[in-house]
Amino acid sequence: MRPLEQRLRSHLAELERDGLLRKRRPPQGIDLSSNDYLGLAAHPLIKERMAAAVCAMGAGSTGSRLLRGERDCFTALEQRFAEFKDTERSLYFGSGYLANLAVLTTFPEAGDTIYSDEWNHASLIDGARLSRAERVVFPHLQPGAVPDGAFLVTESVFSMDGDLAPLEDYQKLGGALIVDEAHAVGLYGDRGEGLAVGEDVFVSVNPAGKALGVAGAFVAGPSWAIEYLEQRARPFIFSTAAPPAVAAAIDASLDVIEAEPERRERVRSLARYLRERLMDAGIAVPTGDSPIIPVIIGENDRAVAVAAALQQAGFDVRAIRPPTVPPGTARLRISVNAGLSEEILARFVKCLVEKLCAACS
Ligand SMILES: Cc1ncc(COP(=O)(O)O)c(C=O)c1O
Repeated sequence: MRPLEQRLRSHLAELERDGLLRKRRPPQGIDLSSNDYLGLAAHPLIKERMAAAVCAMGAGSTGSRLLRGERDCFTALEQRFAEFKDTERSLYFGSGYLANLAVLTTFPEAGDTIYSDEWNHASLIDGARLSRAERVVFPHLQPGAVPDGAFLVTESVFSMDGDLAPLEDYQKLGGALIVDEAHAVGLYGDRGEGLAVGEDVFVSVNPAGKALGVAGAFVAGPSWAIEYLEQRARPFIFSTAAPPAVAAAIDASLDVIEAEPERRERVRSLARYLRERLMDAGIAVPTGDSPIIPVIIGENDRAVAVAAALQQAGFDVRAIRPPTVPPGTARLRISVNAGLSEEILARFVKCLVEKLCAACS
């Protein structure tokens, strides 16, 4: 065996030994794990408008936005999204991961400091690592003093715990606030605009593959910042533009989000209901109404075993293990969506209690 093969095989064996080997599994059973919180990924209007746009504009964009990949539908959508966020401009990226890399490698420069919450998403961590600025990782929700001129980076709703950052307090600190709205946009705010809007933050990053049900992400902020991003962000410049039909789908998704506030109200009321039922059943979960509910198991293998037992019973629940979450906190990340019902959630809690007991014995 060649040394490279030997090395990689030994790393794979270590992952297996530590209960960290991932297995892919397509959706099956009742969805308690996706980020399709509003149930928009398969919404008839969105599918129709996307399909019609493919027929009208073709499948691919054929180039970068700064070259032949530019389309009026994306520019119009960016303007609409900026208004949705009450900002001057927005710029669309192919994914939330790329948008976070773009923001953190473009705005902070050598000599700057990025203050980053220890629970921030991998894309924020990677963006900060790739930037030339110094990094300060602060304990969850405790940035301490942030000097003027520094950057303060946080998620508004944390992806693995579902808790909220105190954005109002952060706005009073010195730094330029960068907020990842992956699990807030579409869900919070009177119009679904999220928690970080207007001039209260420097920029927000708004992935469109979660509550919006489609793909990509918008960075929203003042015109001078977005103009600079367009000129300098490498993930924007050196990447083929998204298929134009994606713009039609997101536009339709925003129509649904604005017209049907009951979807977000329903998700949050179902999330409150599930948290209460879990607590009644003696399963400790944080209070709140975000649709992300962590059930901490601890050991990796046990989390995987409980998730597999729930899957067998028809509930699509996934185990989340390190490095996505800190060692010793492997968990079930339960996510609630608008298509569920109290009856299904009550059945799920009963089943979860059984499977957790079986995994103990
Ligand atoms: C907080 C957060 N930011 C960014 C991303 C990346 O977004 P995308 O999936 O569009 O790349 C995710 C996705 O898991 C996320 O949870």
